[in-house]
Amino acid sequence: MLNRRNLLAVSTLGASAALADLKPAIAKDDVNPTHTWWKEAVVYEIYPRSFKDSNGDGIGDLGGIIDKLPYIRDLGIDTIWLAPIFKSPNRDNGYDINDYRAIMPEFGTMADFDTLMSKASKLGIRIILDLVVNHTSDQHPWFQQSRLSRDNPYRDYYIWRKPGHGGAPNNWPSVFGGSAWTFDQATDSGYLHLFSPQQPDLNWDNPAVRDEIFSIMRFWLDKGVSGFRMDAITLISKDPSLPNLTPEQLHAPEYVYAAGPKLHAYLREMNDRVLSHYDAMTVGEAYGIRADEVSLFTDRSRRELDMVFAFDIVHIDRDGWRKIAWPLSKLKKIYAEAGQPKSQDSWNTVFLDNHDQPRAVSRFGNDSAQFREVSAKAISTLLLTQCGTPFLFQGEELGMTNFPFRTLRDFKDAQVASQWKAKVDAGLVAPDVFLENLKSLGRDNARSPMQWDRTKNAGFTTAASPWFPVNPNYTDVNAQSSVSDLNSLYHYIGRLIALRKKLPALIHGSYRDLDPDHVSVFCYARQWNNSTIVVMINMCDRGITYEPPVPQLGSLVTSSNEQPNVGKGITWLQPWEARIYAA
Ligand code: NOJ
Ligand code: CA
Repeated sequence: MLNRRNLLAVSTLGASAALADLKPAIAKDDVNPTHTWWKEAVVYEIYPRSFKDSNGDGIGDLGGIIDKLPYIRDLGIDTIWLAPIFKSPNRDNGYDINDYRAIMPEFGTMADFDTLMSKASKLGIRIILDLVVNHTSDQHPWFQQSRLSRDNPYRDYYIWRKPGHGGAPNNWPSVFGGSAWTFDQATDSGYLHLFSPQQPDLNWDNPAVRDEIFSIMRFWLDKGVSGFRMDAITLISKDPSLPNLTPEQLHAPEYVYAAGPKLHAYLREMNDRVLSHYDAMTVGEAYGIRADEVSLFTDRSRRELDMVFAFDIVHIDRDGWRKIAWPLSKLKKIYAEAGQPKSQDSWNTVFLDNHDQPRAVSRFGNDSAQFREVSAKAISTLLLTQCGTPFLFQGEELGMTNFPFRTLRDFKDAQVASQWKAKVDAGLVAPDVFLENLKSLGRDNARSPMQWDRTKNAGFTTAASPWFPVNPNYTDVNAQSSVSDLNSLYHYIGRLIALRKKLPALIHGSYRDLDPDHVSVFCYARQWNNSTIVVMINMCDRGITYEPPVPQLGSLVTSSNEQPNVGKGITWLQPWEARIYAA
């Protein structure tokens, strides 16, 4: 996998006085010597529906994942996060579960899952699952019972209230648009759903609900999974008085929803009763959590979660539904804050892509034919050298781009219809303006099928038409051509992953931004014991003369450019060129 042309061995300059100055704000090596597998892991998220179809029905499945395990292993991945694989009516592609102990029939059977587990384990790959327990599907037997009568034993599994004067019990909006309440005639009451009406929120204040959830977790951990990504986990505790939101809170209701009074108590109970009994990793989706609150979840002494996904980076280019411009300084500041956490014993995640986000290369890089590959290499360098466990999303290793949507009808995401209703139909936003923003920000950008090769439907399926159309750029952007070209993004990412394993400073090192004010070059250092890594990335479409902020950088160990200008002092960086130096 190593390509000599790119793994340059330039003379070692050794640790200089200047490098010794790079004293970290917090010396993590002094305070947090714990090496755990999940700190060293590189995780790859699979959205099974769009990954690989093995039986020709147009829908990705477990058989497809099994077939592609060697491809994932060859990239250097050691942990897979599977987006939901459980039985579901698929109103939100599996994030609405009606049986937590059964596999979605379209994806396969429990026997297929067991095969996947054992084949992955033979290749040294762990599997983590998506735990979706803020809500269930409205087709879950618990909810079916709950809605029958006010005295049904399952009534308190969900959150029911009598309608208020204006109809809904309060003014809470759903994250997907519209009211967070749906009226149910059978019992003349409304139920709460922070997402779609088909995703009623569970009532975590009911101890029986917590018992059920903890038992589901044990079921999968006992089957050998290595942990959970926890969906919407910060929203599980609701203020029982369900107060109306102020006009200001209505602008960003997630900050209220994530401030439930029992949230930390419930996470601790989950850790105590379940997680502490297994060698399992947890990563919580920290929706509605501000950067300075992250360590309240992840500090080891609090015994809650191992890591969370904070939203600061992926919200950098949006204000609600609207796309906004962002300066590089903003991105640098977020990484600097994450790299110097308040708590000395907590751990981060690094991610730019997932199944809810537009494609990273289309938003943080430049997806034009000229710059797609180089800019994807630049942002992958960022992903794999910042502080925390990196999470890649399927297709990111190929530089897959946003989908060329034309009309509203091209979108399949259920969220789109409710947002359209709440914004456009309500007369708040003009249809063409909303559509243009949706094209860049819509979640469906991530959900077009994996592009495996140049054959029909990119080799994703043999069906005439896949569940979601393939991006027409698959003839240029596909796994087959990436794997066969040693200079491709795929192999560059493979080399970065191998480098992380070789240089502990990239995993455990402290963080310091060396040039916070530069408008296009992101240059930072990671330091661990006596080793220092300097990362230098030109994040723009223009080449630039750059004077490194430290005179001696160490040896160039990797470059995204085949012929970097490696002279001393002032250097020339090509558009989107990325380099890593080690001393
Ligand atoms: C976050 C998931 O990532 C997203 O896909 C889903 O729609 C919501 N949570 C609701 O489960
Ligand atoms: Ca299939």
